[in-house]
Amino acid sequence: MLELIIKTIWLLLPAYIPNNFAVIFGGGKPLDLGKHFIDGKRILGDGKTIRGFVAGVLGGIFTAHIQLIIEKSFSLSVYSSLDYASFLQLVFLLSFGAMLGDSIGSFIKRRFGVERGGKFPILDQLTFLIIAYILASRCSAFYKLFTLDVIITGIVITPLLHLTINVLAYKLGLKDVWW
Ligand code: CTP
Ligand code: MG
Repeated sequence: MLELIIKTIWLLLPAYIPNNFAVIFGGGKPLDLGKHFIDGKRILGDGKTIRGFVAGVLGGIFTAHIQLIIEKSFSLSVYSSLDYASFLQLVFLLSFGAMLGDSIGSFIKRRFGVERGGKFPILDQLTFLIIAYILASRCSAFYKLFTLDVIITGIVITPLLHLTINVLAYKLGLKDVWW
């Protein structure tokens, strides 16, 4: 059980990390170029920037390479069981899917009239994961590592992880709300 959870987190790091890179390196021109949708509201809003998107994707791919180095130095074989081309394709799709899903989440939030930064439980925590899964499932390497138990564990633990980390950050005084 614990092993499955740890394996799942490890496999999902290239999808988890992009948003953190987007937060750190984001800014500048918004992805929607400031444009409004037919409902008169912003397509995505100022929280989704081109720089954040690109930094997020690169950050996820970077993280995966660090994982490859860690696996090799501890003789572990998760991502390192793949040939390099399949590895690169898979982690790109996970990272890109995470950022695309994050943007789709914002698109849906705007349609529901939720302002930038406003919370939308479950959607905020799962859209990126679902889209990452969908894109990554286009490559055969996905099925080698993401078995059904891993996929399901990911869906269950991601909102819980999110909540745990936010409560921790709140207790540590890094955030002013606990959600
Ligand atoms: N960010 C960015 N570009 C992205 C994604 C995120 O620049 N493609 C940065 C923005 O500064 C954003 C922050 O990371 O405010 C936090 O990301 P997120 O919580 O996803 O955005 P929100 O501001 O909450 O906006 P939304 O309501 O649209 O999710
Ligand atoms: Mg947010």
